[in-house]
Amino acid sequence: MKSILAFTQPLIKVPRWGVTAQELHIGSEKFWIHATPNRAQIFPANCPHRGTPTEYAVCKNSQYICRYHGKPISPLPFHLVKKFGFWWNIKGEESVPFQNEKEFSFCGSDRYILEIPFVLAVDNFNEGSHTPYIHSVTGPLPNEWNQTKFEWSENSEQVKIFYSGPQRNTWVLHGLRAFFPQIWREKLQWSIRWTVDFNPLRMTYHSIWHRQETPETAEIEMKHLYYLAPLGNDQTIMHTFCFMKRPNVDGPLGFILKGLARKFTKNQIREDQKLYPMIKDSPLSLDKLKLDEYDQPLLAIREKCSKLYFKL
Ligand code: FES
Ligand SMILES: [Fe+2]
Repeated sequence: MKSILAFTQPLIKVPRWGVTAQELHIGSEKFWIHATPNRAQIFPANCPHRGTPTEYAVCKNSQYICRYHGKPISPLPFHLVKKFGFWWNIKGEESVPFQNEKEFSFCGSDRYILEIPFVLAVDNFNEGSHTPYIHSVTGPLPNEWNQTKFEWSENSEQVKIFYSGPQRNTWVLHGLRAFFPQIWREKLQWSIRWTVDFNPLRMTYHSIWHRQETPETAEIEMKHLYYLAPLGNDQTIMHTFCFMKRPNVDGPLGFILKGLARKFTKNQIREDQKLYPMIKDSPLSLDKLKLDEYDQPLLAIREKCSKLYFKL
């Protein structure tokens, strides 16, 4: 298994003030990251002297020392970069994704600890047929699901998934009508295309809402970037980044729209989180279960993930 620090990825939210110690616990690897608004460093999980967790290390004169016997603890030699509200570990020639997508405005980022094993969380975020039942804002209602188009494909490095169905009417749309009466009067179609990458596991969702007769013209367009990683055996860590494309997104209206986009993202994740107490004890293996067409990409994703994070 590759070390999680071998990848370009977000590691920790930039704290607003003070020092934040956060655990990075992937597979059998564990580290502690100490971050301030201006600096972030990664430490081995335990003090080299007698193993006190480095969570408790304190910074004195720019040097971290162990709380137990005061010995200095050296950070691991990683260079962390601040972008989109997170400290990122950048490898080689890579850069932070989306930072050059000038057409999209950054709306917000978040870190979630999901109370569900990693494999089940990955399944949940890569399958759309729960949308009518679990989500209240996006996509079709249960009785419209049969109008949904679905496609998927894979190559050696990625899995690509596409859903398109009627957008239900919700309070969000009613609210948006107040700002954009010209576009929200009609029934809209919601199309989502996403790519799953495995270096490390990340999903890039591209959602478009358009009028049914003009699929080529997006009325609202959003991109989301989700990173998922196992946190021990029973939890999953998720970092989310939300971007939105709208003409003239600056100014007060832009501010409102960005806030709405971020709320929308949080709402989607909260709705999935409410489901987790019910599904967290489901079998981890999909063998002998009656899978349908929407579950097929999950097999491909699990197979590619297993090379990185777990053995099936
Ligand atoms: S355990 Fe850390 S200094 Fe002794
Ligand atoms: Fe969901």
